[in-house]
Amino acid sequence: MRTSSEFESVRNRFPVFKNKIYLNSCSQGALSDAVEASLLAHIRSWHEDGSPWDRWVEQYEAARASFARFIGAQPDEVAIVSCASVGISAVGSALNFGGRRRKVVMGEFEFPTMGQIWLAQQPRGAEIQFVVPEHGQIPASAYGKAIDEQTLIVPLTHVCFMNGVRSDVVAITKLARDRGALVMLDDYQDCGTRPIDVKALDVDFYVSGALKYLLCPSGVAFLWVRPELIRSLTPTITGWFGQQNPFAFDVKHFDPAVTARRFESGSPPLPHVFTVPAALELLGSVGFDRIAGHVATLAQALLVGARELKIKIKTPADTRGPLVVLQMKDSEAAVKKLASHNIVVSSRMDGLRISFHLYNTLDDVRALLEVLQKNINLTVRDLGG
Ligand SMILES: Cc1ncc(COP(=O)(O)O)c(C=O)c1O
Repeated sequence: MRTSSEFESVRNRFPVFKNKIYLNSCSQGALSDAVEASLLAHIRSWHEDGSPWDRWVEQYEAARASFARFIGAQPDEVAIVSCASVGISAVGSALNFGGRRRKVVMGEFEFPTMGQIWLAQQPRGAEIQFVVPEHGQIPASAYGKAIDEQTLIVPLTHVCFMNGVRSDVVAITKLARDRGALVMLDDYQDCGTRPIDVKALDVDFYVSGALKYLLCPSGVAFLWVRPELIRSLTPTITGWFGQQNPFAFDVKHFDPAVTARRFESGSPPLPHVFTVPAALELLGSVGFDRIAGHVATLAQALLVGARELKIKIKTPADTRGPLVVLQMKDSEAAVKKLASHNIVVSSRMDGLRISFHLYNTLDDVRALLEVLQKNINLTVRDLGG
């Protein structure tokens, strides 16, 4: 078993903790010495060799391979994109909305980019149907009422960015499959905090960026595509790095790669791809099972503490991820108050977002609760009865 002092020593690899209690991985993961070194390695090679593109392309393939390994997939099934939105858009551009299946069914808990990208497909024939929450959650049964034989795809967030609710991926995926619809899982708010076996999830597309719980800078994201689907989809959002041989420099032919690289477009985000193997190695050295257990313990401690203080909790106790959201009267004021105590969190609407990763401790939870207790007037109370 990894002891808490081992987690403590991992924390020492993230300099931000010298000055701050960092609880904002749902916005941006903290910077580790390993990721910093990998960025510097890219800069050094640029300084020393000017344009060592052969080696840089090797790094880009190394990032693909390490992400593929992490999610239990093959490198050829993974596209490297500059942000999740680009990967989602490439898939959207490849789908045909002119047939019998033209519905896109998604919950209101999706990140806005998901809604916006599929709404942008309306002129191409897409019909968007939003599934409405019931008592702060969207049960699989609500998806069941919306997914039908006309449904083409169900985009599904694994964990909601706004309230930390974890979707019932197994049940919703089964409903979609039984009715012949595709499923796109957006794992951005969870990816990096637990083991992932993308094939066991049985989805068709899996998308995540690397800047949150994967602890990388912004500018790199991944799209996994079910291998049987890859060649049947031809994105119209494309470019030379999406071609079978980008270095053929053939302006007169459109020849999409036979691998998931066909979902890519132009020059890869090179400085960022350097960071991916470094970050995954650091996370893997602790172990994703252990990280998941650690994060669950911290989230549970916060839920218990918030309940004791009678603060209204927006995240259900039984179906959550690394993000716990508390309801505030003025969430921005709460963020500022915590910042004045060197505690970094964020807000969305009336929710105060507190998120946990391998580097956090029970002391972080205590420090946060202490500030909230002293400023209880900022919170919405749950006085029961
Ligand atoms: C669940 C989720 N999906 C997608 C995104 C946006 O992805 P990108 O900016 O990489 O397109 C975010 C960003 O916060 C997110 O939380």
